[in-house]
Amino acid sequence: KRVLCVVGARPNFMKIAPIMRAFAGSSSSLNATLVHTGQHYDVAMKHAFFDQLHIPEPDVDLGVGSGTHAQQTAEIMKRFEPVLDDVHPCAVLVVGDVNSTIACALVAVKKGIPVVHVEAGLRSGDRGMPEEINRILTDQLSDLLFLTEDSAKNNLAKEGIAGEKIHFVGNVMIDTLLHNLADAIPAKTSLSSMQLDSALCEKGRYGVVTLHRPSNVDDPAVLRGLLEVLARVSERTPLLFPIHPRTEACIESAGLHAILEKAAITAIPPQGYLEMLGLMKDAQVVLTDSGGIQEETTALGVPCITLRDNTERPITVEQGTNTIVGTDHAKIMACYEDVVLTGGKVGRVPDLWDGNAASRIVQIMHQWASG
Ligand code: UD1
Repeated sequence: KRVLCVVGARPNFMKIAPIMRAFAGSSSSLNATLVHTGQHYDVAMKHAFFDQLHIPEPDVDLGVGSGTHAQQTAEIMKRFEPVLDDVHPCAVLVVGDVNSTIACALVAVKKGIPVVHVEAGLRSGDRGMPEEINRILTDQLSDLLFLTEDSAKNNLAKEGIAGEKIHFVGNVMIDTLLHNLADAIPAKTSLSSMQLDSALCEKGRYGVVTLHRPSNVDDPAVLRGLLEVLARVSERTPLLFPIHPRTEACIESAGLHAILEKAAITAIPPQGYLEMLGLMKDAQVVLTDSGGIQEETTALGVPCITLRDNTERPITVEQGTNTIVGTDHAKIMACYEDVVLTGGKVGRVPDLWDGNAASRIVQIMHQWASG
């Protein structure tokens, strides 16, 4: 029996890698086929991840590329349907919350094919976030829901999703982190290979920034405000800033490059997985609006300042090293001061973030498919 696994965008790649490995290594009669929708396609956004994480070349690449949400979602749906007719999978497995996740789930369910959602039940409570809509709808369509944290159970119960579909298995992204930690590329090596001064990243004395949420980067006034507060942080802690393509475009069109150039903020291209892990691992602090990085910093025990008003991953705040500060300058600075003075929050690694989530998923799917 075939399980059709779907990836589309950068944060999907580290989630699918351990799942593909677990299917390949299991004695189960289930076999995995991989479809890449092509939502992310640049070398830096895709190829570096497939190579470093040893993800098998996708069996099918739909090549959809970028577009408005409607265009992108619709194009994925149109191109995914014939793949299902070809492969006849017993289930479609989707991960995370990107447009590829909901698009493929919707096509599958309409064809009567069971949907499996990995990283289900997370809710930010903010329906202005495109990912929140993708999460709610994908969970409604799913037959099996795999959770990274226990709080997700309550979210799903409130939305009327039956308990027997739900399994708390841990976090596949942390499977990937633990599997690759020993191979993380040291920050100094990455800087040298970009012809940058490796003294910019003395262990524990630099920070890492990532920004790409539409709510932070699309409005030039909000983006300017964030870059200005980052410039203040950089007066004491030099910052490395791998810039997502959509953020680069926003900085360029709003004419904000000068803020970065004047500050001790080093803009670098999007990094590969092992490079990013190396940067985060030895950082004094990470400032981000990413979802996944909130979890990775918790697993690494590195303080994380989240530049959003909410999180769909509350366990990173309750148990981990994460603090939610939004975009308010005073709050960001206060949280940063705390990191400088006290070393920031000391967290613990949440239950079942132990490197074995993907094998639990394959085991449960095997029982489900043979039941
Ligand atoms: C998508 C996900 C978001 C995730 C993020 C991580 C949705 C709704 N959003 O947002 O949840 O956190 O990926 O990166 O699915 N671009 C390139 N090269 C690429 C891909 C994109 O240059 O390989 C540029 C294009 O100009 C594109 C823009 O980035 O228009 C946005 O890409 P898109 O896939 O629409 O959304 P992301 O912002 O990347």
